[in-house]
Amino acid sequence: MDVYQAVTTRRAVREFTDEPVPRATLERVLSAAARTPSGANIQPWTVYVLTDAPLAELKKRIAERTEADDPGDEREYPMYPPELASPYRERRSAAAAQRFDALGIRREDARKRAEIIAANWQCFGAPALLLSYIHRDLGSAQWVDLGMYLQTVMLLLRSEGLHSCPQMAWSVYHRTVAEVVSPPEELLLFGGLSVGFEDTSAKFARIDRAPLAETVTFLDGTGS
Ligand SMILES: Cc1cc2nc3c(=O)[nH]c(=O)nc-3n(C[C@H](O)[C@H](O)[C@H](O)COP(=O)(O)O)c2cc1C
Repeated sequence: MDVYQAVTTRRAVREFTDEPVPRATLERVLSAAARTPSGANIQPWTVYVLTDAPLAELKKRIAERTEADDPGDEREYPMYPPELASPYRERRSAAAAQRFDALGIRREDARKRAEIIAANWQCFGAPALLLSYIHRDLGSAQWVDLGMYLQTVMLLLRSEGLHSCPQMAWSVYHRTVAEVVSPPEELLLFGGLSVGFEDTSAKFARIDRAPLAETVTFLDGTGS
C-alpha cells in the first residue's frame, strides 16, 4: 500500500471485528511511528497499549459510569471552543448529518445518539486501544507534534491492513482511565485510538472534505 492509498483508505472506523491485533504488528507500527518529526525532537508522546484483560476492565469500569448517566470528570482541555465559528460549525453539522444518514438515524433520536456516543467507550468493538498522553507543561506546538504522531500511527496501521478510530472521548473519563493505566501525575490524557480489523458488513459514511480552494491558497504570481 502506498502513502496515497493509506491516506485515502483511512477513515474513522466505528465497527470492528473481535479478531485480535498481534502484538508484533503493534510493535512494528509504533517503532516506525517513532520516526514522526517533532520540534527539537522532543517526541512529546507517551502511549499505553491496552488489550485483553486490562482493556476489558477499562470498558467495564466506564460502562458502569455511562450506564449511570455519569457526565464524566472535570475536563482537562476543551475539545472545541464553546462557540464554534463558521465555517467549522457548518462542517461539524454536515459531518454529523452524513454519519446519521448513513446509519439511518434521525438527528432528534436522542436515545440512538446516546448509544452511538457510548460505543466510544467500548472501542466500537475493537480489541486494542492506544491511549496517548502529553506532559501538562507542554504547549500547543507540542500538541501538534502529538497529532502528527497519531496520524503516522493511523497510516501505518492501514499498511498493516488495520483500521482505527481516533477518540478524544476517552478524555471525558480520564480518571477511570488513570485507575487502570496508572500514568505519572504530570501526564494529561489526550485521547484514545481504537485499533482493529474493520467489520466490512457495517454501514458507514465516507465523510466529505471541503474543496481544495476553500482551505488552500496558491500564491505563485499567476493570479489564478
Ligand atoms: C483528534 C480527533 C479526535 C476525535 N475524537 C472522536 C471521538 O471521540 N469519537 C468518534 O467517534 N470520532 C472521533 N474522531 C473522528 C472524527 O469524527 C473523524 O475523523 C471525522 O469526522 C472525519 O471522518 P473520517 O476520519 O472518517 O474521514 C476524532 C478525530 C480526531 C482527529
